[in-house]
Amino acid sequence: MPDAPSDTVLSAPPAPARAGGELFTEERSADVVAASFDNTPDPRLRQVLTSLVHHLHAFVKEVELTEEEWGVAIDFLTRTGQTCSDVRQEFILLSDVLGVSMLVETINHRTGGTSTESTVLGPFHMVESPERELGDNIALDGKGTPCLVSGQVTGPDGEPLAGASVDVWQTNEDGFYDVQQPGLQPPGNLRGLFSTDDEGRFWFRSVVPRYYPIPDDGPVGKLLAATGRHPNRPAHLHFIAAAPGYRPVTTHVFVADSPYLDSDAVFGVKESLVRDVPEVDDPARAAEVGLSNPFRTLTFDLTLLRANQAPAAQPADGAPGGSTS
Ligand SMILES: [Fe+2]
Repeated sequence: MPDAPSDTVLSAPPAPARAGGELFTEERSADVVAASFDNTPDPRLRQVLTSLVHHLHAFVKEVELTEEEWGVAIDFLTRTGQTCSDVRQEFILLSDVLGVSMLVETINHRTGGTSTESTVLGPFHMVESPERELGDNIALDGKGTPCLVSGQVTGPDGEPLAGASVDVWQTNEDGFYDVQQPGLQPPGNLRGLFSTDDEGRFWFRSVVPRYYPIPDDGPVGKLLAATGRHPNRPAHLHFIAAAPGYRPVTTHVFVADSPYLDSDAVFGVKESLVRDVPEVDDPARAAEVGLSNPFRTLTFDLTLLRANQAPAAQPADGAPGGSTS
């Protein structure tokens, strides 16, 4: 094959036709990328991805993210994933400290003031609570300030919900869940799955929980430290109450005299969920309920909406953000 003469001018091949695809520019970046999802068969997935791209690009443009900062963010998310294990969920923690968990929970469980308010599930409901009988003591190691916990589960018209399930988990007096102290706490310590009696009532013996720091030895803890935030959550008991035909509620009850009630690291506190936990100094009553004297009492009634009850309307000032481009 002879070489082409040096003066041969090869004409450029025609540009390949693009099927309507717009090239990326800074100004149009979000629309260009969002358009790549136009053929997503699932309309909800298309909506979510399109909105995500618009908000993400607007954020990058607003702060003019540097390449170094982008690298730090990628490294942070990588370490967040690598910190997850069977007994630790660092991504839920990240969502919690950014308030996203509470926002998702609140949007999806609006009550309109007619039922028990929800709050975050949190990262420690990672084992099935053992089934217990009403009146059982869930403080298997017998440590802590004794506390009688009781309440009633009802529907929106006050009808008692017999046989409702009440799933409870809490920390010990040192502020740790059983899964955080294997070997120190017996498995299932301070957890219980109860079934309400004919009047929708439940009661059990436990100890007063303590405030505690969320796990702060990982990437999320470093984020809190870098921003001058403490990692603590005020003392609380977790509840999931459920009954056939009703909407389950995932919530906490907060101890009124706990520190950090006004600065929960995961924004979980709602005024309607705070309860006094008064002391009872009455040997006869203590003997009757099977606790040492004195003991403290916590009463928490839960009201569930019916399964077919429409969520309350969105607050007027909570209009959806939509596209920011
Ligand atoms: Fe908790």
